[in-house]
Amino acid sequence: MEASRRDFIHVALGGMGAVGALGVLYPILKTLAPSAASVTEAKVEIAIDSVPELGMRVTSWKGKPLFILKLPSDITQKYTYKVKKESKNSAGKLNQEILRDKPVFALIGVCTHLGCIPLWKPKGSSDVKAPYLHCPCHGGLYTPWGDNIGGPPPRPLFVPPQKIEGNKLVVGEPGFVKELV
Ligand code: FES
Repeated sequence: MEASRRDFIHVALGGMGAVGALGVLYPILKTLAPSAASVTEAKVEIAIDSVPELGMRVTSWKGKPLFILKLPSDITQKYTYKVKKESKNSAGKLNQEILRDKPVFALIGVCTHLGCIPLWKPKGSSDVKAPYLHCPCHGGLYTPWGDNIGGPPPRPLFVPPQKIEGNKLVVGEPGFVKELV
């Protein structure tokens, strides 16, 4: 099945408002409609070409929002992020260590504080002068790889198992990330 058929929202640089609304609504919807969690996709395929550079697509995996990001190859030369000391995923690493050399990658789009959906800020802001993810609920800040740079989230965004197969990112199968970390 085409990945685009499974997408419930496509967000490029101009679609931040919809994600913002979802950020507020997601915890409420999760509470009111627990059966929605049973709508799962064990495997999601996304055409790498369909993700614009410095853009993000939003789809879902196992009932959770899934962020697909494509970053410029020189992003680590252009920007330095002050990552919080305690920002370690369950493999004991920064997400960036696992993801930075990949042309595209997927993150679970659920804030690790209380479950809102973070916003993608590709142009940064007056406070963070670099692309980042911002959770509007309590001010959680993440690097584009989901590592913690500010606010209350206790750990990085979760990274699902994923691999690159030809021109596709396949989420839900082990590859450069073997299991959820
Ligand atoms: S839910 Fe994201 S900072 Fe609280």
